[in-house]
Amino acid sequence: MERTLIIVKPDGVQRALVGEIIKRFEARGLRIAGMKLMQIPRETAEKHYAEHKGKPFYEGTVAFMTSAPVIVLCLEGPDAVAAARATMGATNPLNAPAGTIRGDLGINISRNLVHGADKPETAVRELALYFTEDELLSYERAADKWLKE
Ligand code: CDP
Ligand code: MG
Repeated sequence: MERTLIIVKPDGVQRALVGEIIKRFEARGLRIAGMKLMQIPRETAEKHYAEHKGKPFYEGTVAFMTSAPVIVLCLEGPDAVAAARATMGATNPLNAPAGTIRGDLGINISRNLVHGADKPETAVRELALYFTEDELLSYERAADKWLKE
């Protein structure tokens, strides 16, 4: 069992695609362990995107991510990080296949609707930026036994 951090970015909230985006992760089999609406503080966004500091898109990304409310989610499931990334599609929606969130709903790399942690270690670090332990719930759904062997 693995946990990942997902963010429905400000464009997803503003375009009223929150349900559409969460639906795809949920239908894939990932279980919601935590979820909230928030406006990301600048300091948190800077920590989140620290690996990109100095790159041309860094300032724009931090400004965009803090510009309006987002939905942050902790999703849980077998190989949750890789499963969520595959459901999202490539960073640039133009390279994301149809059937993925970014490939179906996006057209610009800086407005790509959704964030997902890229590795299990990154997920642990990012989850700690957005959630306290008591905000995350572990539980079994009736259908979970049908999602794995
Ligand atoms: O989000 P992902 O892990 O797929 O991509 P990333 O390479 O870690 O970049 C983080 C975010 O920066 C992207 O999701 C975009 O929002 C933004 N970005 C951008 O606006 N322009 C780029 N050329 C690259 C990234
Ligand atoms: Mg990334």
